[in-house]
Amino acid sequence: MTAIDKDRHALVDRLRKVREARARGGRPAPAPARVAGAAPKAFDFSTLPIFEQMRFQEAVGRSLGIGTPFFRQIDSRDGARCVIDGEERINFASYDYLGLGSHPDVRRAAVAAAEEWGVSANASRLVGGERPYHGALERAVASAYGVDAAVAMVSGHATNVTTIGALIGPKDLILMDQLIHNSISEGARLSGAARLTFPHNDFDWVDETLARVRDRYERVLIVVEGLYSMDGDFPDLPRFVEIKARHGAWLMVDEAHAFGVLGATGRGLAELQGVDPRSVEIWMGTLSKTLAACGGYVCGSEALIAYLKHKAPGFVFSVGLAAPVAAAAEAAVRAMLAEPERVARLRANGLRFRERAAAAGLDVGLSEGYAVTPVIIGDSPRAVVAADRLFKRGINALPIIFPAVPEQQARIRFFLTSDHEEAEIDRAVDETAEVVKSLEGVDLFASLRD
Ligand SMILES: Cc1ncc(COP(=O)(O)O)c(C=O)c1O
Repeated sequence: MTAIDKDRHALVDRLRKVREARARGGRPAPAPARVAGAAPKAFDFSTLPIFEQMRFQEAVGRSLGIGTPFFRQIDSRDGARCVIDGEERINFASYDYLGLGSHPDVRRAAVAAAEEWGVSANASRLVGGERPYHGALERAVASAYGVDAAVAMVSGHATNVTTIGALIGPKDLILMDQLIHNSISEGARLSGAARLTFPHNDFDWVDETLARVRDRYERVLIVVEGLYSMDGDFPDLPRFVEIKARHGAWLMVDEAHAFGVLGATGRGLAELQGVDPRSVEIWMGTLSKTLAACGGYVCGSEALIAYLKHKAPGFVFSVGLAAPVAAAAEAAVRAMLAEPERVARLRANGLRFRERAAAAGLDVGLSEGYAVTPVIIGDSPRAVVAADRLFKRGINALPIIFPAVPEQQARIRFFLTSDHEEAEIDRAVDETAEVVKSLEGVDLFASLRD
C-alpha cells in the first residue's frame, strides 16, 4: 500500500467516524468500560481532539500532494522577501508594514539598549520599578496618537485580554464586530460580561440594539478594529463615535493593522477619517507589526492608563517590556513619523495590488487596498492548494481557512509592505490569477473518493 493509499484509508475512516458521531448527536464515542480493579490509565494528551484534526489535515494534505503551509521555517530576516527551503520568495506574510524591522535606527536602538540595560526587565514594573525606556516608548506612542498617556505590555494578545477584563465585568455588555480578532473575543469571554457580535461594520445595528438594551447594563464597551486583518477594510469611525457618545458607551479601537498604515503619517484610523483621537476612549495596538518589535499598548486618558497600571493583571502581575524591545519600538515610532514616504509607498503598493487583482477577476472582498488584501478562493482545500501552488512559484502567502473564516470564504491573504517592488506585486497578481484559473471546476476530492 502506498503512502497515498494509506492516507485515503485514514481519510475514509475519519469520515466514517464523523458520520457515526453525527448519528450519536455529536457526542463522543463512549469510553470502553474499565475492568473493575484495573488501574486507571495515565491521561494521554495525544488523545485530545485537536490531534485527530491535525492528523486528518495532514492526511488530506498528503493525499492532495501538498505540504502544510503552517510553521514553515524562515531562514532570513522577515520582510518583503524571505528565504524558505533555501530559496528566496516574494513574501506576503510579513506584518513589517513599513520595513522598520530593517531600519538601521531601530536595530541600533535595540543593540544599544541591550548593551546598556541588559535584556530582561526581570519583574513587574509595579514592584520592580520603572526604567527610562518604558516611559520613553509610552510617551512616543501617546504623542503619536495625540492623547494623554499610554501603557505598553509584553504581548498584543494579552494586552487586549487583560484590558477588557480589567474594564468590564458581569454587569456589563460588550459589543464586538463579527470579524473582531480572537484577543478581543477571548478577553470578552473571560470578563464574564454579556456579549453580542454585530454584523460587520453595521453601526445601525449597534445603535438600534443599544436603544433597546442599554439600560440593562452598567458599562457598555463597543470594540472595532482600525483595519480588519482578514478583510482589509475599516469601520466608519465618526458614526461609531457619535453612537457610543449618545448611548453612554466606551469605544475601543484595535489598531494592530492600522497604526503605520492608515492616514498620511500612519497615525491610524483617526487620522484617515479626520476624527479627534480624544473622542475614542481606548486606542489599542501592537508593537509587533509596524513597530517591528513585540508587545502591545493601550493609549487614552491619564485616568485610563493609571487605572490599567494598577488593575490590569497582565500588567500588574507580568514583567515589563525587555529593554531592546522597548527601545526598538520607540525608535520605530520616531522613524515612522520622520519618514512618511514609507506610509505613502505602502498605500501605493496596497492600492496597486488591490486594483490589479480586481482587474484580473480575483475576488478581493471588502479590501480598501491598504496593507491587507484577501483573495477569496472558496472552500478551504482549494485555498490551501492554491497557496501551495503559489509557494511552488516562489510566492509566500498564507491560506486562511475554516474556522478562521466561513468555509466558502477561504482565502489567501496578502500583506503588503512599503518594501515590495511594483514588479513583485504585478507578478504575484498574475501568478495568483493563473493559479485560481487552473483550479476552476477541478474536483480536488475526486481522487480521494476513487
Ligand atoms: C487585530 C489584532 N489584535 C491583536 C493582535 C495580537 O497582537 P500580537 O500578535 O502582537 O500579540 C493581533 C495579532 O495578529 C491582531 O491581528
